[in-house]
Amino acid sequence: MFRYIAPTLTRRAFLASAAATTAAMLPLSPALPSTAATREIALRAAPGRVRLVPSGETTAWLYNDTVPGPEIRIRQGDRLRVAVDNALPEETTIHWHGVRVPNAMDGVPHLTQKPVGAGERFVYEFEAVDAGTFWYHPHQRSFEQVARGLYGPLIVEEQAPVRVDRDVTWVLGDWRLTKSGALSEDFGNRHDIQHNGRVGNAVTINGRVPDDFAVRKGERVRLRLINAANARIFSLDFAAHEPVVIALDGQPVTPHAPKKGLVTLGPAMRVDVIIDMNGNAGSRATVTDRFYQGLEFGLVDLVFDATPLRERAPEWPIALPANPIPEPDLRTASRNEVVFNGGMMGEMVAQQMGESMGRGATGGMMGHRDMMTGGMMQMVNASPAWFINGVAADEASHAMKPILTLAKDRSHVIAMTNATAWHHPIHLHGHAFRVISRNGQPTRHREWQDTVLLSPREKVEIAFVADNPGDWMFHCHVLEHQAGGMMAVFRVA
Ligand code: C2O
Ligand code: CU
Repeated sequence: MFRYIAPTLTRRAFLASAAATTAAMLPLSPALPSTAATREIALRAAPGRVRLVPSGETTAWLYNDTVPGPEIRIRQGDRLRVAVDNALPEETTIHWHGVRVPNAMDGVPHLTQKPVGAGERFVYEFEAVDAGTFWYHPHQRSFEQVARGLYGPLIVEEQAPVRVDRDVTWVLGDWRLTKSGALSEDFGNRHDIQHNGRVGNAVTINGRVPDDFAVRKGERVRLRLINAANARIFSLDFAAHEPVVIALDGQPVTPHAPKKGLVTLGPAMRVDVIIDMNGNAGSRATVTDRFYQGLEFGLVDLVFDATPLRERAPEWPIALPANPIPEPDLRTASRNEVVFNGGMMGEMVAQQMGESMGRGATGGMMGHRDMMTGGMMQMVNASPAWFINGVAADEASHAMKPILTLAKDRSHVIAMTNATAWHHPIHLHGHAFRVISRNGQPTRHREWQDTVLLSPREKVEIAFVADNPGDWMFHCHVLEHQAGGMMAVFRVA
Protein backbone atom coordinates (compact mmCIF):
# COMPACT_ATOMS: atom_id res chain seq x y z
CA MET A 1 0.00 0.00 0.00
CA PHE A 2 1.26 3.44 -0.80
CA ARG A 3 1.46 5.66 2.24
CA TYR A 4 0.79 9.34 1.80
CA ILE A 5 3.74 11.50 2.68
CA ALA A 6 3.11 15.22 2.69
CA PRO A 7 5.20 16.92 0.04
CA THR A 8 7.64 18.76 2.26
CA LEU A 9 11.22 19.61 1.51
CA THR A 10 13.42 17.02 3.11
CA ARG A 11 16.81 17.83 4.51
CA ARG A 12 18.34 15.73 1.77
CA ALA A 13 16.61 17.62 -1.02
CA PHE A 14 17.66 20.87 0.56
CA LEU A 15 21.26 19.81 0.75
CA ALA A 16 21.16 18.60 -2.84
CA SER A 17 19.91 21.91 -4.13
CA ALA A 18 22.22 23.93 -1.91
CA ALA A 19 25.17 21.86 -3.07
CA ALA A 20 24.09 22.36 -6.64
CA THR A 21 25.22 25.95 -6.75
CA THR A 22 28.80 24.84 -6.18
CA ALA A 23 28.62 21.66 -8.24
CA ALA A 24 29.09 23.26 -11.62
CA MET A 25 32.34 21.40 -12.27
CA LEU A 26 30.86 17.91 -12.02
CA PRO A 27 31.27 15.95 -15.23
CA LEU A 28 28.15 15.74 -17.32
CA SER A 29 26.69 12.31 -17.79
CA PRO A 30 23.49 11.66 -19.72
CA ALA A 31 22.01 9.28 -17.15
CA LEU A 32 23.58 8.75 -13.78
CA PRO A 33 23.23 5.27 -12.26
CA SER A 34 19.99 4.83 -10.37
CA THR A 35 19.22 3.08 -7.12
CA ALA A 36 15.95 1.38 -6.29
CA ALA A 37 14.23 4.42 -4.87
CA THR A 38 16.06 7.45 -6.25
CA ARG A 39 16.29 8.10 -9.95
CA GLU A 40 19.01 10.47 -11.07
CA ILE A 41 18.67 12.23 -14.38
CA ALA A 42 20.73 14.89 -16.09
CA LEU A 43 19.02 17.43 -18.29
CA ARG A 44 20.97 19.87 -20.39
CA ALA A 45 19.12 22.75 -22.00
CA ALA A 46 20.90 23.94 -25.11
CA PRO A 47 20.30 25.16 -28.66
CA GLY A 48 20.27 22.43 -31.29
CA ARG A 49 18.68 21.27 -34.49
CA VAL A 50 15.66 18.99 -34.97
CA ARG A 51 13.65 17.59 -37.83
CA LEU A 52 10.07 18.67 -37.08
CA VAL A 53 8.86 18.59 -40.67
CA PRO A 54 10.01 16.13 -43.33
CA SER A 55 11.44 18.92 -45.47
CA GLY A 56 14.31 20.01 -43.24
CA GLU A 57 15.76 20.91 -39.87
CA THR A 58 14.81 23.68 -37.48
CA THR A 59 17.04 25.37 -34.95
CA ALA A 60 15.38 25.02 -31.57
CA TRP A 61 16.14 24.90 -27.84
CA LEU A 62 16.27 21.34 -26.57
CA TYR A 63 16.65 19.18 -23.49
CA ASN A 64 19.37 16.58 -24.15
CA ASP A 65 19.25 17.42 -27.84
CA THR A 66 15.72 16.16 -28.42
CA VAL A 67 12.20 17.50 -28.53
CA PRO A 68 10.33 16.61 -26.50
CA GLY A 69 13.06 16.18 -23.90
CA PRO A 70 13.65 12.62 -22.62
CA GLU A 71 10.62 10.86 -21.14
CA ILE A 72 11.30 10.56 -17.44
CA ARG A 73 9.57 7.45 -16.07
CA ILE A 74 9.55 6.66 -12.39
CA ARG A 75 7.40 4.74 -9.92
CA GLN A 76 5.01 6.35 -7.50
CA GLY A 77 6.83 6.85 -4.22
CA ASP A 78 10.26 7.10 -5.88
CA ARG A 79 12.45 10.13 -5.52
CA LEU A 80 13.65 11.95 -8.58
CA ARG A 81 16.84 13.97 -8.67
CA VAL A 82 17.43 16.01 -11.79
CA ALA A 83 20.65 17.93 -12.41
CA VAL A 84 19.87 20.70 -14.85
CA ASP A 85 22.66 22.31 -16.82
CA ASN A 86 21.86 25.55 -18.53
CA ALA A 87 23.68 25.85 -21.85
CA LEU A 88 21.20 28.43 -23.15
CA PRO A 89 22.19 32.03 -23.79
CA GLU A 90 19.87 33.14 -20.96
CA GLU A 91 18.53 32.20 -17.52
CA THR A 92 16.12 29.30 -17.14
CA THR A 93 14.35 27.07 -14.58
CA ILE A 94 12.33 23.86 -14.72
CA HIS A 95 8.78 23.57 -13.43
CA TRP A 96 7.41 20.05 -12.85
CA HIS A 97 3.91 20.71 -14.05
CA GLY A 98 1.25 19.00 -11.94
CA VAL A 99 3.69 17.33 -9.56
CA ARG A 100 3.06 18.26 -5.92
CA VAL A 101 6.63 19.20 -5.10
CA PRO A 102 7.99 21.19 -2.15
CA ASN A 103 7.88 24.90 -2.91
CA ALA A 104 11.66 25.28 -3.31
CA MET A 105 11.58 22.66 -6.11
CA ASP A 106 8.77 24.32 -8.09
CA GLY A 107 10.99 26.18 -10.53
CA VAL A 108 9.42 29.62 -10.50
CA PRO A 109 12.11 32.28 -10.96
CA HIS A 110 12.37 34.85 -8.17
CA LEU A 111 9.40 33.32 -6.34
CA THR A 112 10.74 29.87 -5.42
CA GLN A 113 14.34 30.04 -6.62
CA LYS A 114 17.00 32.19 -8.19
CA PRO A 115 16.90 31.61 -11.96
CA VAL A 116 19.62 29.27 -13.23
CA GLY A 117 22.08 31.48 -15.10
CA ALA A 118 23.69 30.62 -18.41
CA GLY A 119 26.41 28.07 -17.70
CA GLU A 120 25.03 27.24 -14.25
CA ARG A 121 23.61 24.06 -12.75
CA PHE A 122 20.68 23.50 -10.42
CA VAL A 123 19.57 20.20 -8.89
CA TYR A 124 15.89 19.51 -8.37
CA GLU A 125 14.83 16.73 -6.06
CA PHE A 126 11.41 15.60 -4.96
CA GLU A 127 9.29 12.55 -4.28
CA ALA A 128 6.65 11.42 -6.77
CA VAL A 129 3.68 11.40 -4.38
CA ASP A 130 1.11 10.98 -7.17
CA ALA A 131 1.08 8.53 -10.06
CA GLY A 132 0.12 10.01 -13.40
CA THR A 133 1.02 11.84 -16.57
CA PHE A 134 2.95 15.04 -15.91
CA TRP A 135 5.42 17.19 -17.82
CA TYR A 136 8.28 19.58 -17.35
CA HIS A 137 9.07 22.94 -18.89
CA PRO A 138 10.90 26.17 -18.06
CA HIS A 139 9.10 28.85 -16.08
CA GLN A 140 11.49 31.60 -17.11
CA ARG A 141 10.14 33.57 -20.10
CA SER A 142 8.23 30.41 -20.88
CA PHE A 143 6.32 32.01 -23.77
CA GLU A 144 9.63 31.93 -25.67
CA GLN A 145 11.50 29.02 -24.06
CA VAL A 146 8.60 26.55 -24.44
CA ALA A 147 7.87 27.77 -27.97
CA ARG A 148 11.52 27.11 -28.83
CA GLY A 149 11.13 23.46 -27.81
CA LEU A 150 11.89 23.15 -24.10
CA TYR A 151 9.43 20.62 -22.69
CA GLY A 152 9.28 16.93 -21.92
CA PRO A 153 7.06 14.22 -20.41
CA LEU A 154 7.27 12.97 -16.82
CA ILE A 155 5.41 9.71 -16.27
CA VAL A 156 4.87 8.38 -12.75
CA GLU A 157 3.72 4.78 -12.94
CA GLU A 158 1.19 3.34 -10.52
CA GLN A 159 2.45 0.61 -8.21
CA ALA A 160 0.00 -1.64 -10.07
CA PRO A 161 -0.78 -0.08 -13.48
CA VAL A 162 -3.93 -1.03 -15.38
CA ARG A 163 -3.31 -3.77 -17.90
CA VAL A 164 -2.91 -2.63 -21.53
CA ASP A 165 -1.08 -3.91 -24.58
CA ARG A 166 0.81 -0.65 -25.00
CA ASP A 167 1.37 2.45 -22.89
CA VAL A 168 1.99 5.31 -25.31
CA THR A 169 2.79 8.98 -24.70
CA TRP A 170 1.89 11.63 -27.28
CA VAL A 171 3.35 15.02 -26.49
CA LEU A 172 1.44 17.48 -28.69
CA GLY A 173 3.55 20.41 -29.85
CA ASP A 174 2.64 23.44 -31.91
CA TRP A 175 5.20 25.46 -33.84
CA ARG A 176 5.07 28.68 -35.78
CA LEU A 177 7.44 28.14 -38.67
CA THR A 178 8.43 30.39 -41.53
CA LYS A 179 8.40 29.25 -45.15
CA SER A 180 12.00 28.08 -44.82
CA GLY A 181 11.15 25.95 -41.78
CA ALA A 182 12.79 28.24 -39.23
CA LEU A 183 11.04 29.23 -36.01
CA SER A 184 9.19 32.50 -36.41
CA GLU A 185 10.97 34.87 -34.02
CA ASP A 186 7.90 36.93 -33.10
CA PHE A 187 7.71 35.49 -29.57
CA GLY A 188 5.48 37.40 -27.21
CA ASN A 189 4.25 39.89 -29.79
CA ARG A 190 1.43 42.18 -28.77
CA HIS A 191 -1.12 40.61 -31.08
CA ASP A 192 -0.57 37.13 -29.65
CA ILE A 193 -0.69 38.50 -26.12
CA GLN A 194 -3.98 40.29 -26.63
CA HIS A 195 -5.69 37.52 -28.62
CA ASN A 196 -5.45 33.75 -28.36
CA GLY A 197 -1.72 33.45 -27.92
CA ARG A 198 0.93 31.96 -30.16
CA VAL A 199 -1.09 29.43 -32.15
CA GLY A 200 1.33 27.91 -34.64
CA ASN A 201 1.11 26.31 -38.04
CA ALA A 202 2.82 22.94 -37.55
CA VAL A 203 1.44 20.46 -35.03
CA THR A 204 3.80 17.71 -33.90
CA ILE A 205 3.43 14.48 -31.97
CA ASN A 206 6.60 13.73 -30.01
CA GLY A 207 8.49 16.32 -32.03
CA ARG A 208 7.54 15.27 -35.56
CA VAL A 209 4.71 16.22 -37.86
CA PRO A 210 3.30 12.69 -37.72
CA ASP A 211 2.87 10.20 -40.51
CA ASP A 212 1.08 7.05 -39.52
CA PHE A 213 0.65 5.41 -36.16
CA ALA A 214 0.75 1.62 -36.44
CA VAL A 215 -1.86 -0.33 -34.46
CA ARG A 216 -3.45 -3.77 -34.51
CA LYS A 217 -7.06 -4.74 -34.37
CA GLY A 218 -8.08 -5.65 -30.82
CA GLU A 219 -5.09 -3.91 -29.29
CA ARG A 220 -5.69 -1.94 -26.10
CA VAL A 221 -3.63 1.24 -25.86
CA ARG A 222 -3.29 3.59 -22.91
CA LEU A 223 -2.67 6.87 -24.65
CA ARG A 224 -1.19 9.62 -22.50
CA LEU A 225 -1.90 12.93 -24.22
CA ILE A 226 0.07 15.98 -23.12
CA ASN A 227 -0.64 19.41 -24.59
CA ALA A 228 2.72 21.18 -24.57
CA ALA A 229 1.59 23.94 -26.94
CA ASN A 230 1.87 27.59 -25.89
CA ALA A 231 -1.69 28.35 -26.88
CA ARG A 232 -3.35 25.77 -29.11
CA ILE A 233 -6.35 23.89 -27.75
CA PHE A 234 -7.02 20.39 -29.10
CA SER A 235 -10.29 18.50 -29.40
CA LEU A 236 -9.41 15.09 -30.76
CA ASP A 237 -11.85 12.86 -32.58
CA PHE A 238 -10.67 9.25 -32.81
CA ALA A 239 -13.05 8.37 -35.65
CA ALA A 240 -14.99 5.15 -34.95
CA HIS A 241 -13.09 4.52 -31.72
CA GLU A 242 -14.59 5.09 -28.31
CA PRO A 243 -11.87 6.48 -26.10
CA VAL A 244 -12.48 6.15 -22.37
CA VAL A 245 -10.97 8.85 -20.19
CA ILE A 246 -9.28 7.36 -17.12
CA ALA A 247 -7.20 10.31 -15.90
CA LEU A 248 -7.21 14.09 -16.25
CA ASP A 249 -4.02 16.03 -15.56
CA GLY A 250 -2.54 12.77 -14.32
CA GLN A 251 -5.24 12.30 -11.68
CA PRO A 252 -7.54 9.28 -11.89
CA VAL A 253 -11.16 9.99 -12.78
CA THR A 254 -14.18 7.70 -12.99
CA PRO A 255 -13.72 6.10 -16.42
CA HIS A 256 -16.08 7.82 -18.83
CA ALA A 257 -16.61 8.63 -22.49
CA PRO A 258 -15.68 12.26 -23.22
CA LYS A 259 -18.45 14.66 -24.30
CA LYS A 260 -19.37 14.01 -27.94
CA GLY A 261 -16.46 11.58 -28.07
CA LEU A 262 -14.00 14.50 -28.27
CA VAL A 263 -10.90 14.53 -26.09
CA THR A 264 -10.26 18.20 -25.30
CA LEU A 265 -6.99 19.54 -23.95
CA GLY A 266 -6.15 23.17 -23.29
CA PRO A 267 -2.47 24.09 -23.05
CA ALA A 268 -0.66 22.18 -20.25
CA MET A 269 -3.52 19.72 -19.78
CA ARG A 270 -3.14 15.95 -19.94
CA VAL A 271 -5.69 13.27 -20.64
CA ASP A 272 -5.09 9.53 -20.31
CA VAL A 273 -7.45 7.51 -22.49
CA ILE A 274 -7.93 3.82 -23.01
CA ILE A 275 -8.55 3.03 -26.67
CA ASP A 276 -9.49 -0.39 -27.96
CA MET A 277 -8.37 -0.39 -31.57
CA ASN A 278 -11.41 -1.56 -33.49
CA GLY A 279 -10.58 -1.10 -37.19
CA ASN A 280 -10.30 -3.99 -39.57
CA ALA A 281 -6.92 -5.41 -40.43
CA GLY A 282 -5.35 -3.35 -43.18
CA SER A 283 -7.65 -0.32 -42.70
CA ARG A 284 -6.87 3.27 -41.64
CA ALA A 285 -8.64 5.70 -39.32
CA THR A 286 -7.84 9.40 -39.10
CA VAL A 287 -7.51 11.19 -35.77
CA THR A 288 -8.94 14.67 -36.39
CA ASP A 289 -8.57 17.83 -34.34
CA ARG A 290 -11.90 19.64 -34.27
CA PHE A 291 -11.37 22.42 -31.76
CA TYR A 292 -11.28 25.43 -34.10
CA GLN A 293 -14.43 25.49 -36.21
CA GLY A 294 -13.63 25.57 -39.89
CA LEU A 295 -10.01 24.66 -39.21
CA GLU A 296 -10.38 20.96 -38.50
CA PHE A 297 -7.40 18.94 -39.62
CA GLY A 298 -6.23 15.34 -39.77
CA LEU A 299 -3.58 14.96 -37.07
CA VAL A 300 -2.46 11.40 -37.72
CA ASP A 301 -3.72 8.14 -39.23
CA LEU A 302 -4.07 4.98 -37.21
CA VAL A 303 -2.92 2.28 -39.60
CA PHE A 304 -4.08 -1.26 -38.87
CA ASP A 305 -1.67 -4.12 -39.33
CA ALA A 306 -2.69 -6.94 -41.64
CA THR A 307 -2.83 -9.34 -38.68
CA PRO A 308 -5.29 -8.67 -35.85
CA LEU A 309 -4.02 -9.00 -32.29
CA ARG A 310 -7.40 -10.29 -31.09
CA GLU A 311 -10.90 -10.24 -32.46
CA ARG A 312 -12.63 -8.60 -29.54
CA ALA A 313 -11.56 -5.98 -27.05
CA PRO A 314 -10.16 -7.43 -23.81
CA GLU A 315 -12.23 -7.20 -20.63
CA TRP A 316 -9.49 -6.02 -18.34
CA PRO A 317 -10.47 -3.44 -15.68
CA ILE A 318 -9.48 0.17 -16.44
CA ALA A 319 -10.10 2.17 -13.26
CA LEU A 320 -6.94 3.63 -11.73
CA PRO A 321 -6.26 3.66 -7.98
CA ALA A 322 -6.77 7.06 -6.35
CA ASN A 323 -3.81 9.27 -5.53
CA PRO A 324 -3.28 10.34 -1.91
CA ILE A 325 -4.86 13.79 -2.15
CA PRO A 326 -6.70 15.19 0.87
CA GLU A 327 -10.43 15.62 0.30
CA PRO A 328 -11.72 19.23 0.61
CA ASP A 329 -14.55 19.78 3.08
CA LEU A 330 -17.01 22.14 1.43
CA ARG A 331 -18.86 22.88 4.67
CA THR A 332 -15.83 24.45 6.28
CA ALA A 333 -14.11 25.76 3.16
CA SER A 334 -13.22 29.43 2.76
CA ARG A 335 -14.78 31.08 -0.29
CA ASN A 336 -12.70 33.20 -2.61
CA GLU A 337 -13.66 35.05 -5.77
CA VAL A 338 -11.31 35.41 -8.70
CA VAL A 339 -12.24 37.35 -11.85
CA PHE A 340 -10.32 37.33 -15.10
CA ASN A 341 -10.55 40.39 -17.33
CA GLY A 342 -8.89 41.85 -20.36
CA GLY A 343 -7.85 40.90 -23.86
CA MET A 344 -9.16 41.99 -27.19
CA MET A 345 -12.86 41.53 -27.49
CA GLY A 346 -15.74 42.00 -29.81
CA GLU A 347 -16.00 41.03 -33.43
CA MET A 348 -14.46 37.90 -34.74
CA VAL A 349 -10.76 38.25 -35.23
CA ALA A 350 -9.31 36.34 -38.13
CA GLN A 351 -5.77 35.31 -37.57
CA GLN A 352 -3.55 34.89 -40.57
CA MET A 353 -1.52 31.79 -40.10
CA GLY A 354 0.85 32.19 -42.99
CA GLU A 355 2.06 29.30 -45.00
CA SER A 356 0.96 25.71 -44.65
CA MET A 357 3.38 23.22 -43.26
CA GLY A 358 2.44 19.72 -44.32
CA ARG A 359 -0.58 17.93 -42.97
CA GLY A 360 -0.19 19.29 -39.48
CA ALA A 361 -0.69 22.75 -40.88
CA THR A 362 -3.57 24.65 -39.40
CA GLY A 363 -4.15 27.74 -37.45
CA GLY A 364 -6.62 30.35 -36.49
CA MET A 365 -9.00 30.81 -33.71
CA MET A 366 -12.52 30.71 -32.50
CA GLY A 367 -14.75 33.52 -33.61
CA HIS A 368 -16.24 35.18 -30.59
CA ARG A 369 -18.82 37.72 -31.53
CA ASP A 370 -19.90 38.45 -28.03
CA MET A 371 -19.08 41.78 -26.60
CA MET A 372 -17.57 41.68 -23.22
CA THR A 373 -19.41 43.28 -20.39
CA GLY A 374 -17.88 45.33 -17.62
CA GLY A 375 -15.70 48.33 -17.63
CA MET A 376 -12.56 46.95 -19.15
CA MET A 377 -12.76 48.67 -22.53
CA GLN A 378 -10.10 51.17 -21.67
CA MET A 379 -7.61 48.38 -21.25
CA VAL A 380 -7.64 47.37 -24.87
CA ASN A 381 -4.39 48.29 -26.56
CA ALA A 382 -2.91 49.11 -23.24
CA SER A 383 -0.11 46.90 -22.13
CA PRO A 384 -0.42 44.81 -19.92
CA ALA A 385 -3.37 43.03 -21.44
CA TRP A 386 -4.82 40.69 -18.81
CA PHE A 387 -5.94 41.07 -15.21
CA ILE A 388 -6.74 38.85 -12.25
CA ASN A 389 -8.94 40.70 -9.78
CA GLY A 390 -7.97 43.91 -11.52
CA VAL A 391 -4.24 43.40 -11.26
CA ALA A 392 -1.87 42.53 -14.09
CA ALA A 393 1.21 40.86 -12.69
CA ASP A 394 4.55 41.74 -14.12
CA GLU A 395 6.55 38.64 -14.87
CA ALA A 396 9.82 40.51 -14.72
CA SER A 397 9.03 41.91 -11.30
CA HIS A 398 10.87 40.14 -8.53
CA ALA A 399 8.28 40.79 -5.86
CA MET A 400 4.93 39.32 -6.72
CA LYS A 401 2.57 39.90 -3.83
CA PRO A 402 0.07 37.14 -2.97
CA ILE A 403 -3.53 38.03 -3.88
CA LEU A 404 -4.83 35.38 -1.50
CA THR A 405 -3.50 33.84 1.68
CA LEU A 406 -4.96 30.38 2.24
CA ALA A 407 -4.84 28.81 5.68
CA LYS A 408 -2.66 25.71 5.57
CA ASP A 409 -4.42 22.35 5.86
CA ARG A 410 -7.81 24.00 5.48
CA SER A 411 -10.25 23.63 2.60
CA HIS A 412 -10.76 26.45 0.14
CA VAL A 413 -13.14 27.13 -2.72
CA ILE A 414 -11.98 29.41 -5.52
CA ALA A 415 -14.90 30.70 -7.58
CA MET A 416 -13.47 31.82 -10.91
CA THR A 417 -15.24 34.02 -13.43
CA ASN A 418 -13.95 34.34 -16.93
CA ALA A 419 -15.17 37.83 -17.87
CA THR A 420 -13.36 37.72 -21.19
CA ALA A 421 -14.19 36.59 -24.71
CA TRP A 422 -11.40 34.00 -24.69
CA HIS A 423 -10.57 30.54 -23.44
CA HIS A 424 -8.14 30.31 -20.53
CA PRO A 425 -6.52 27.16 -19.11
CA ILE A 426 -6.00 28.18 -15.48
CA HIS A 427 -3.21 26.42 -13.60
CA LEU A 428 -2.47 26.32 -9.88
CA HIS A 429 0.95 25.18 -8.70
CA GLY A 430 1.68 22.84 -5.80
CA HIS A 431 -1.79 21.29 -5.52
CA ALA A 432 -4.45 19.38 -7.39
CA PHE A 433 -7.98 20.73 -7.06
CA ARG A 434 -11.42 19.31 -7.60
CA VAL A 435 -13.51 21.04 -10.28
CA ILE A 436 -16.82 21.14 -8.42
CA SER A 437 -19.07 23.25 -10.64
CA ARG A 438 -19.39 24.93 -14.02
CA ASN A 439 -21.85 27.78 -14.46
CA GLY A 440 -23.52 26.77 -11.22
CA GLN A 441 -24.02 23.14 -12.19
CA PRO A 442 -22.16 20.51 -10.17
CA THR A 443 -19.70 18.59 -12.30
CA ARG A 444 -20.45 14.95 -12.88
CA HIS A 445 -17.05 13.56 -11.93
CA ARG A 446 -15.71 16.23 -9.54
CA GLU A 447 -12.48 15.67 -11.41
CA TRP A 448 -9.09 16.45 -9.94
CA GLN A 449 -7.13 18.79 -12.18
CA ASP A 450 -4.18 21.13 -11.97
CA THR A 451 -5.23 23.11 -15.05
CA VAL A 452 -8.87 23.84 -15.82
CA LEU A 453 -10.06 25.20 -19.15
CA LEU A 454 -12.49 28.10 -18.80
CA SER A 455 -14.65 28.91 -21.80
CA PRO A 456 -15.51 32.52 -22.59
CA ARG A 457 -17.72 33.92 -19.78
CA GLU A 458 -17.72 30.65 -17.91
CA LYS A 459 -17.82 30.43 -14.11
CA VAL A 460 -15.95 27.52 -12.59
CA GLU A 461 -15.55 26.58 -8.94
CA ILE A 462 -12.62 24.56 -7.68
CA ALA A 463 -11.94 23.21 -4.20
CA PHE A 464 -8.85 21.84 -2.50
CA VAL A 465 -7.02 21.44 0.78
CA ALA A 466 -4.07 23.84 0.90
CA ASP A 467 -1.62 21.32 2.34
CA ASN A 468 1.54 22.47 0.61
CA PRO A 469 3.07 25.55 2.25
CA GLY A 470 4.62 28.34 0.23
CA ASP A 471 3.92 30.92 -2.45
CA TRP A 472 2.34 29.28 -5.49
CA MET A 473 1.73 30.57 -8.99
CA PHE A 474 -1.83 30.74 -10.27
CA HIS A 475 -1.92 31.67 -13.94
CA CYS A 476 -3.27 31.19 -17.41
CA HIS A 477 -1.28 28.59 -19.35
CA VAL A 478 -1.72 30.35 -22.65
CA LEU A 479 1.83 31.50 -22.17
CA GLU A 480 1.29 34.81 -23.94
CA HIS A 481 -1.62 35.58 -21.60
CA GLN A 482 0.61 34.78 -18.65
CA ALA A 483 3.27 37.11 -20.03
CA GLY A 484 0.57 39.74 -20.55
CA GLY A 485 -0.28 39.82 -16.85
CA MET A 486 -2.64 36.88 -16.32
CA MET A 487 -0.96 35.46 -13.26
CA ALA A 488 -1.02 35.80 -9.52
CA VAL A 489 0.35 34.24 -6.38
CA PHE A 490 -1.54 32.29 -3.70
CA ARG A 491 0.19 32.00 -0.35
CA VAL A 492 -0.39 28.86 1.70
CA ALA A 493 0.58 29.49 5.30
CU1 C2O B 1 3.07 24.55 -16.60
CU2 C2O B 1 3.17 27.73 -14.08
O1 C2O B 1 3.18 26.19 -15.36
CU1 CU C 1 -5.51 32.94 -20.94
